[in-house]
Amino acid sequence: MSDTNTIGLHEASASQLAEKLNELLANYQIFYMNVRGYHWNVKGRQFFQLHEKFEEFYTDLLTKVDEVAERILTLGHTPVHAYSDYVKIARIEEDKNVHDGEACVRGVLQGYQTLIELQRELLSLASDADDEGTAAQAGDYIREQEKTVWMLGAYLG
Ligand SMILES: [Fe+2]
Repeated sequence: MSDTNTIGLHEASASQLAEKLNELLANYQIFYMNVRGYHWNVKGRQFFQLHEKFEEFYTDLLTKVDEVAERILTLGHTPVHAYSDYVKIARIEEDKNVHDGEACVRGVLQGYQTLIELQRELLSLASDADDEGTAAQAGDYIREQEKTVWMLGAYLG
């Protein structure tokens, strides 16, 4: 039996990468739901601006949820698909009943910081495994989200 998968990566590396990608997926899913909650629950003078901005963020997070899950499938593994598992795996915790605009933005900022941290770990694993596909995906997300972190920091002043 071959020790490489259908895209020519070592099975052992693919398995390790899939596990890390599942950890990332769990964080995306919890974070997605947190941002959806901010979109619904935010109150105050900044409501219209933040409500719309949070929708922009969670729509993008949802796109990435699908891309991360499909990368796991491309590597020959199964994406975790139950919220009960996401809660156990994710570093990002559920953030409930937040209404204050600044607190919502801080939640978004911290969520992106955690995603960046996880994606750097993933990028390092992918580089060691010569997995350019996963590395490029992680690199694109990092670059994009670092800019988002800068903007959220600027908003908070
Ligand atoms: Fe909405």
